[in-house]
Amino acid sequence: MLAAEHWALELARAAGLRTARTRLETFGTRDALVVERYDRTEDHRRIHQEDFTQVLGIASAAKYDQSTAAPSRLAQVAATASLHSRNAAAFKSELLKAVAFNVLVGNGDAHSKNYSVLIRETGEVELAPLYDVAPTLLLYARSSNAGHSVAGQARLNYITLDHLVREAGSWGMDVEEARAGVTGILVAAAEAHASVPQRLAHLPALVAARAEDLIAGSTARRQL
Ligand SMILES: Nc1ncnc2c1ncn2[C@@H]1O[C@H](COP(=O)(O)OP(=O)(O)O)[C@@H](O)[C@H]1O
Ligand SMILES: [Mg+2]
Repeated sequence: MLAAEHWALELARAAGLRTARTRLETFGTRDALVVERYDRTEDHRRIHQEDFTQVLGIASAAKYDQSTAAPSRLAQVAATASLHSRNAAAFKSELLKAVAFNVLVGNGDAHSKNYSVLIRETGEVELAPLYDVAPTLLLYARSSNAGHSVAGQARLNYITLDHLVREAGSWGMDVEEARAGVTGILVAAAEAHASVPQRLAHLPALVAARAEDLIAGSTARRQL
């Protein structure tokens, strides 16, 4: 799992997303994922952070979005947070790409505590770098919860490009721009290279095939 998370975050960064920086390290007999904090300034002052349950004032226990009713939870975050961002369209576009990347890599844990915003002293809000991203669906297939409903679809297995585009449309994004943004991140992730450990050597080809599936308008395969 540690190696898979490290790989997924490296892949996201190589595809052009902002991510927490991680490295694998061993302490005695323990393997660890060392994560560099993103919520500190260069002079070590804190940057206030809120995850999406905090942004919306909902209970931590409700972190998995089960609702398929509109407005979606993601639409509520997009509306609330983008209002205080430097550029609302850019905030939404970045959020959409993050959600699309999590669908692509089969992250069954992309719930409201695994996305956050940073709030600067000026009050300016920005999406926090991606963190806690792992291809759980491709490793265990235990849960197929998407974490957040996308255009009314709460099951990760069934989310398509069309769902992502319609979801972004509900945030007020231009749908053609949304389609181009999602396709762009899928292509970039399929082409990006990140060091993949031996045990997970099947993942890059699988993720590239999933990107092809999604770009073609279907659901993404779970096996090659
Ligand atoms: N690199 C980071 N810098 C600052 N805060 C972080 C970083 N990574 C995660 N966090 C914060 O810590 C919380 C827990 O981290 P996470 O990686 O999700 O751990 P867990 O696997 O326990 O869920 C996150 O919800 C996020 O708000
Ligand atoms: Mg987490």
